[in-house]
Amino acid sequence: MGTLPRLGILLSGRGSNFMAIADNIAAGKIRAEIAIVISNRADAAGLEEARKRGLETRLIPSKGFEREQYDRMVVDVLKEKKVDLVCLAGFMRLLSAYFVSHFPNRILNIHPSILPSFPGLEAQHQALQHGVKFSGCTVHFVDENLDAGPIIAQAIVSILDEDTAETLSARILKEEHRIYSEAINFVLSGNFRIKERRVIQSSR
Ligand code: GRF
Repeated sequence: MGTLPRLGILLSGRGSNFMAIADNIAAGKIRAEIAIVISNRADAAGLEEARKRGLETRLIPSKGFEREQYDRMVVDVLKEKKVDLVCLAGFMRLLSAYFVSHFPNRILNIHPSILPSFPGLEAQHQALQHGVKFSGCTVHFVDENLDAGPIIAQAIVSILDEDTAETLSARILKEEHRIYSEAINFVLSGNFRIKERRVIQSSR
């Protein structure tokens, strides 16, 4: 068996992606354990949910700290908890080069658009504003740029004439919950290489 890979989850809000990951671990669909859930916001519902599930949590408020100063505190906790893979799940902060260099190709993020279209805030609203017919979600490795980094998985969602940002977000979220866990399994398998920006599955 060996020891399980240890995940560190970072979130700032609702935490539905975190819950989907935790549910899939509990169901035996991801062979890993959650070592720590960290939030930069005291009012994050996801933090409360993690506590309810008996997971170890840490509130590290970000207000008033410089980016790297804050990231040093987070990296310290992730190292203390021996985290192998960091999963950003609605963590509303850019990471510093310091953070990224401590977990090379070991930080994932999920974003509610087909990147590189519509990075940043309110991606679903941006998609409707632009009038695209398809949007979706992307899991990618994290670097110090916003919603950048090599792409691991994407899922497409059709945009309907009657969609609002809320209805579109709800359909995209369903796909987020599915592909984030798949991407975690893919990365934990180690069965890939990164060639320039392309994440390529190794032949078995
Ligand atoms: C998701 O739409 C995710 O793609 C984006 O932030 C949102 C977080 O939702 N990065 P939740 O907190 O996981 O419910």
